[in-house]
Order: sequence, then C-alpha cells, then structure tokens
Amino acid sequence: MKIVVTGGKGMLGRTLQEEFADAEVVVADLPEWDILDCDTFTEKLVVEKPDAVIHCAAMTKVDDCETNRELAFRLNEEGTRNVALAAKSCGARLFAISTDYVFSGDAPKEKWAWGELDIPRPRTVYGASKFAGERMVEMIYPENSVVLRIAWLYGAGGPSFVHTMVKLGADGNAAPLKVVDDQVGNPTSAKTVARAIRFLMSRPDVSGTVHGTCEGIVSWHGFAEEIKRLMGERFPRSIVPCKTEEFPRPAPRPKNSALRKSVLNVLGYRTAPWQEALAEFIKEEFGE
Ligand SMILES: NC(=O)c1ccc[n+]([C@@H]2O[C@H](COP(=O)([O-])OP(=O)(O)OC[C@H]3O[C@@H](n4cnc5c(N)ncnc54)[C@H](OP(=O)(O)O)[C@@H]3O)[C@@H](O)[C@H]2O)c1
Repeated sequence: MKIVVTGGKGMLGRTLQEEFADAEVVVADLPEWDILDCDTFTEKLVVEKPDAVIHCAAMTKVDDCETNRELAFRLNEEGTRNVALAAKSCGARLFAISTDYVFSGDAPKEKWAWGELDIPRPRTVYGASKFAGERMVEMIYPENSVVLRIAWLYGAGGPSFVHTMVKLGADGNAAPLKVVDDQVGNPTSAKTVARAIRFLMSRPDVSGTVHGTCEGIVSWHGFAEEIKRLMGERFPRSIVPCKTEEFPRPAPRPKNSALRKSVLNVLGYRTAPWQEALAEFIKEEFGE
C-alpha cells in the first residue's frame, strides 16, 4: 500500500505518517510538492502511482483566512481541485480532509449535531473555502473519493488547544484561566482520524461525505477541565467559564459545530469517545 499525504508535514500529516508506518507513505508538502502547481503536482503523483491520497494541505488558520480571502480560496478550493484532478488521473482513492466549519454553527440546542446530509452554510472565509474544496472533490472525482469532515483537532507537536491549555495551565500563580463555555463541539485526536481513515480504506465501496470526529460533545471549558484533570499537579491553575463575547475574533466561532457520524455508525464503526482519545494523547505527549 502506497499513500501520498498532502500537507504531510502538518499536524495531522505527521500523525498519519506514524499511524501508517506499515505502508509506504510519501510526504507531499512544500517546497517539493505544491498543490497550487497543478501540472507538476500531477506529474509527481503519476510517478508515485499511489493507492491512496490523503489530502491534508490547506490554509488552516481561521482568522488569517478572514483577512486573506484570496489565498484561502486558492489553497482550499483551487488546491483541492488540483489534488482531485491528479488523484483521478492516476486512479488513486482520495480522502480529502474537511471541517465542521462548513456548518453555520447555529444549532438549536446543545445535543444537536450536524449530520452528513445537513446543508452546509459556512459563516467564515475558512469554512466557505473548505466547502468550495469539498464541492470540487464531489464534482471531479465522485466515484473514488471520501470527504472526511473532522473538528477540534489535536495531535503530536501541535499547535492545538490542548498544547495551549497545558502551557497556560502550568502557572499556578496566574489569574484563573477563562475558557468559553458557550461553544460546543467534538474534540478529536489525529490518531482517531488516522484510524477512521484506515477503516475507510478497508471499505472501497464507500464514497461521499463522512463525518469522522471523536464521540461525544463538550464545550471548550469542559474540554479544558478534562485536560486539567488529566494533567493533575502539572496543571495547578484554575479554570473559569466565560462567554464568547469576551474573546472577539476576526472569524465568528460556531456555537455548536458537533458532527453526527451517521455514515460510520451505519457501517458499524465507532470512533473513540473524546475523553478516551484525550487521555491516550496526554499520556503519549506529556507523560503520565
Ligand atoms: N486543526 C484543526 O483543528 C482542524 C479542524 C478541522 C479540520 N481540519 C483540516 O484538517 C487538515 C489538516 O489540518 P492540520 O491542522 O494538520 O493543518 P496544518 O498543521 O496547518 O498542516 C497543513 C500543511 O499543509 C502545508 N501546505 C500549505 N500550503 C501548501 C501547498 N500549497 N502545497 C502543499 N502543502 C501545503 C502546510 O505547510 P506550511 O506550514 O509550510 O504552510 C502544512 O504543512 C486540513 O485540511 C484542515 O482544514 C483541521
């Protein structure tokens, strides 16, 4: 099995390299591989002849996308189009990674979660550009591709919310750490995503949009409390809940972007509960 991972040097890409150590993984990242250079990217992919392409490369900084709309669409829409065309030209199965930000986040209640059939209505440039990328995959290569939506990602080396909390929580003399409690979602480890992709690789009959986050819904505040609990004495700082309005950001954050995993559930595959995946990660990344 040969797998090309675009954005392979990024947070998810690095975990994919580790989790697919039994396969031949080709890291397709800058400067050698540029998803914006369609011809060269395609030529290189044809030479590699992979069985699968996992497309992680993207402009991922949500606030930067608001101020640089053109680059966001170039990378997330046009870049994804190029990857889809290249994967199609060599017959490789494509897994294109997308995001909960395609949804508005205006869900009516906390236990609501967005399903694969719900209609995306992105409220940010990042979400709109990633949704445009999804449509490219669906238009160009519907027969052999999966758009895998993930959310609230953390992985070895970061940067991520977990890494930020662990760093800020170490100072027991600092004022209590304020964390928003009015935004909910599914914290998801990069390992969980890698395992879901491995499962989907065993099901070549599956194509289309699939949600692949950890099980369970929590607020950023609840997520932070669990990180504190798992870190024990290494996280002496206290945490207090606050509201989104206290932390204005250029890109509006979704109030509820939790994803329902209807497709994986129908296929009989369950992702790890978020608490379990987090405990595994904290142990590996920061020790017991
Ligand atoms: N992080 C999250 O919370 C989250 C949540 C939901 C979905 N996702 C999605 O998951 C995927 C992976 O996210 P991540 O956090 O692992 O991203 P990341 O750490 O930002 O990695 C993205 C990688 O793509 C590379 N890249 C940028 N432009 C490129 C180009 N033109 N050609 C080739 N490679 C290029 C980046 O290189 P440089 O660093 O040099 O720019 C970087 O190594 C993305 O599609 C993202 O939208 C992430």
